[in-house]
Amino acid sequence: MYSDKVMEHFMNPRNVGEIENADGVGQVGNAKCGDIMKMYLKIEDETIVDVKFKTFGCGSAIASSSMATEMIKGKTISEAMNLSNKAVAQALDGLPPVKMHCSVLAEQAIKAALYDYSKKYNKTIEGLEDFN
Ligand code: FES
Ligand code: FES
Repeated sequence: MYSDKVMEHFMNPRNVGEIENADGVGQVGNAKCGDIMKMYLKIEDETIVDVKFKTFGCGSAIASSSMATEMIKGKTISEAMNLSNKAVAQALDGLPPVKMHCSVLAEQAIKAALYDYSKKYNKTIEGLEDFN
């Protein structure tokens, strides 16, 4: 049912934890199952220099957050904005159809953290104008 990559990221998730004085923090919940994901970003010169997450959720949600954090680390804000949940699922060699919504959490948590950053530093991020 689960790819080796999903299992591997579930067993050894990358970037778990919190960032003190993070530049952006985003928390989202999955309406379907009540799971919660929290994402912390450290941003310098429009680049995500560090990212950590905490996920209270299923294995697919944990694997998705782990993969998503790996995919945006060192990337620019606009590159992170372009990360879709489909790309995360693809990088994990797929998720079972009923688990696709778990990867949506990761995409949403990143956007929520970027939104928080944009508010904190009074910046406009294209695509987040009416995020809430
Ligand atoms: Fe909540 Fe997946 S249904 S953990
Ligand atoms: Fe709830 Fe995966 S996040 S089932």
